[in-house]
Amino acid sequence: MKDQLVVVIGGTSGIGFEVARRVVERGGQVVLGGRDPERLERAVSTLGAAASGRTVDVTDKSSIAAFFEPLTRLDHLFAPGSSYGRGKLLEISDELAESPFRAKFWGQYYAVKNAAPKIAKTGSIVLMAGAYSVRPPVDGAAYAACNGALESLGRALALELSPVRVNVVSPGMIDSDLWARVPSEVREQNVASFSRDTLVGRPGTVAEAAEAVLYLMTNTYTTGSVLYPDGGFSLR
Ligand SMILES: NC(=O)c1ccc[n+]([C@@H]2O[C@H](COP(=O)([O-])OP(=O)(O)OC[C@H]3O[C@@H](n4cnc5c(N)ncnc54)[C@H](OP(=O)(O)O)[C@@H]3O)[C@@H](O)[C@H]2O)c1
Repeated sequence: MKDQLVVVIGGTSGIGFEVARRVVERGGQVVLGGRDPERLERAVSTLGAAASGRTVDVTDKSSIAAFFEPLTRLDHLFAPGSSYGRGKLLEISDELAESPFRAKFWGQYYAVKNAAPKIAKTGSIVLMAGAYSVRPPVDGAAYAACNGALESLGRALALELSPVRVNVVSPGMIDSDLWARVPSEVREQNVASFSRDTLVGRPGTVAEAAEAVLYLMTNTYTTGSVLYPDGGFSLR
């Protein structure tokens, strides 16, 4: 990571922040993106001189373009930042059902589109999906499909953008800041069912997810692959 420039949209919290922290720890520089200016400021000042940041909303194409405009060159892109809802087919509003594709799929698609001309030939892109792609929940068909679409997008972009490497990380439940924000009974229910449904008997940590992303960025012979840091969730 020495002297590498890594862009992390959604780098102000959770998995994205932990990836940024590890990049800086290993001698790299990071540009963070997120919507909330205060959270952004806090994350940048925590990481110190090797970090800078700009606000961006990945549901807005012009905001993504403005975010990348000042950058002339970067080595790696990781853009997990997104927020969305999920629910059952006949119960969820169309607006909420479409939210994973709007934020998580098209957000990453347009981040890649803006970044690709500036990524070093030796660089890489890591897309964020989720293990519901292969083991869907009963209340999130569109969300599961979005994760599957991202895994497919990663393989297609690996072909199109070669020699830049493109990989996908598809975690199971990671006990991040995301879960700290949901009501505690919902988090506990999810921890219990996920623990039951994995081979290692617990959710993952942000450190475990972030290390999977660092592996995909740094392993120079890995492209077009999907990595599942999911404790075996996809097998059960
Ligand atoms: N945690 C899990 O269990 C899990 C499992 C599988 C996959 N994932 C995926 O991992 C990603 C990150 O999860 P996390 O647990 O690290 O969540 P998190 O702690 O809530 O972090 C989300 C980050 O994304 C930013 N963000 C949210 N909406 C955004 C938007 N519209 N535009 C730009 N930035 C936005 C947030 O900052 P602002 O709010 O300030 O914008 C924050 O920096 C999500 O895409 C999720 O699908 C998570």
